[in-house]
Amino acid sequence: MAEVSPADVVAARAAIAGRLHRTPIFSSATLSKHVGAPVHLKAELFQRTGSFKPRGVLTKLASLSEDEKRRGVIGISAGNHAQALAYCSALEGINALLVMWEGASPQKIEATRAYGATVDLEANGPGEAFERLHELIEQTGRPLVHPFDDPLTIAGQGTVGLEIVEDVPETTVVIVPVGGGGLVSGVAIGAEGRRIVAVEPELSDALCRGLGAGESVRVDPKSVADGLSAPFAGELPLEICRRRDVESVLVTEEEIAAGMRFLYGRAKRYDEAISTLREAVNMEPKRPELFLYLGTAYYRAKEYDRAAQTLQEGLGLDDKQKDLHFQLGVVYEKQSRFDDAVSSFRRVIALDPKNAEAYNYVGYMYAEKGQNLEEAIQLIGKALDLEPENGYFIDSLGWAYYQQGKYPEALKELKRAVMKTKEPDPVIYEHLGDALVKNGLDEDALAAWEKALQLDPAADGVKKKVNDLKDRQRRVKGGSKASQ
Ligand SMILES: Cc1ncc(COP(=O)(O)O)c(C=O)c1O
Repeated sequence: MAEVSPADVVAARAAIAGRLHRTPIFSSATLSKHVGAPVHLKAELFQRTGSFKPRGVLTKLASLSEDEKRRGVIGISAGNHAQALAYCSALEGINALLVMWEGASPQKIEATRAYGATVDLEANGPGEAFERLHELIEQTGRPLVHPFDDPLTIAGQGTVGLEIVEDVPETTVVIVPVGGGGLVSGVAIGAEGRRIVAVEPELSDALCRGLGAGESVRVDPKSVADGLSAPFAGELPLEICRRRDVESVLVTEEEIAAGMRFLYGRAKRYDEAISTLREAVNMEPKRPELFLYLGTAYYRAKEYDRAAQTLQEGLGLDDKQKDLHFQLGVVYEKQSRFDDAVSSFRRVIALDPKNAEAYNYVGYMYAEKGQNLEEAIQLIGKALDLEPENGYFIDSLGWAYYQQGKYPEALKELKRAVMKTKEPDPVIYEHLGDALVKNGLDEDALAAWEKALQLDPAADGVKKKVNDLKDRQRRVKGGSKASQ
């Protein structure tokens, strides 16, 4: 069996350097009091795509040959690995196919598709999904990016452990949530010498059972903790956990619910994150990335003024942080500060000329305003050079053509945008309806707008368009009757 060493974890860190965040670690006074010892939380929710998973994925992708990359990759996941694989593949220009299953979180499926990956939902549950995975590997010849049973995935996840012992060297115990065991085995290597405790739901206990049986055994995961629903633990994680004396603890569903209530805090989901991050910024006012996390938390809580101010403060410390500029552009756009948003995204482009999203944002904003349309098309074209299959970029292009009065071209692109965005998007359907009307296809336009309304029943602008068109149709019919 392949070995994974601390040197492999250090090498993984080099392979992913510069593309992922070093996530913050917070102390929690309440938890420390409860436990009777200082407790820190490693906030992997602030990693790109919202979990630690891109660490393992990027490490694995970096090892593929050009030929393997050309074939495209395949993965399986309840959601977090899927989002990570979709995101990292887009970053590397690799096509990604994800096996998920009926009953997986719709938000995670949607996010995976939004990053441009194809999602296969033929399987009925996690167990069946692994059979489907092997079928598809046979059919397509795509290399597998395994969520947990691969030395490179494990080495990548191990960078979490490395950061923990660097940032809090006095750490004696690391407590790690477990699905298939990739994270805990990586952390056991990256945080070598510490006591490692693997925590699993009683209703999803693949590692515990595997350790007991001396080999990987099948389980039927039923826990509310959907991210931990691996139907078996990996052979390599089991071997590493055995060799490194990883301890196993099971928790009940009630204990998981109590933990979630504690972390999410009172009524608003972001309260806890915001107050913890504010504390962190006060304690370490010289770390621009903390301003990014706090600004992003304000943005998600829809507190746009505070978000803008926090992000500007972060840029005051270091104005070369492209992620801060990008997030600030997103906030300005929400505040309808058009010129400020454009200059933020232009700054991102100057710092990171391969940032497709930033090109698209500027182009789309020009298209929305009906300004600089030639330049808008050029910018969107750059985004599409980087990610040719991105349905949202294709929508921007169609919309820019529409604003130029090039209606047949607009219609062609908007139809393509609908095809490429696997999760139907109300704005794209609205654009499509607008272009259909301009091409004289009123009935099709009504159908497109009805679809937009079905997806977003609160879209009053679309309701008005439907009513206006129906009125016009009635008047034309009435008029033609009157003239008979
Ligand atoms: C948020 C979260 N925590 C923990 C895990 C467990 O990781 P592993 O399957 O490597 O044990 C997962 C797996 O998907 C996850 O999404």
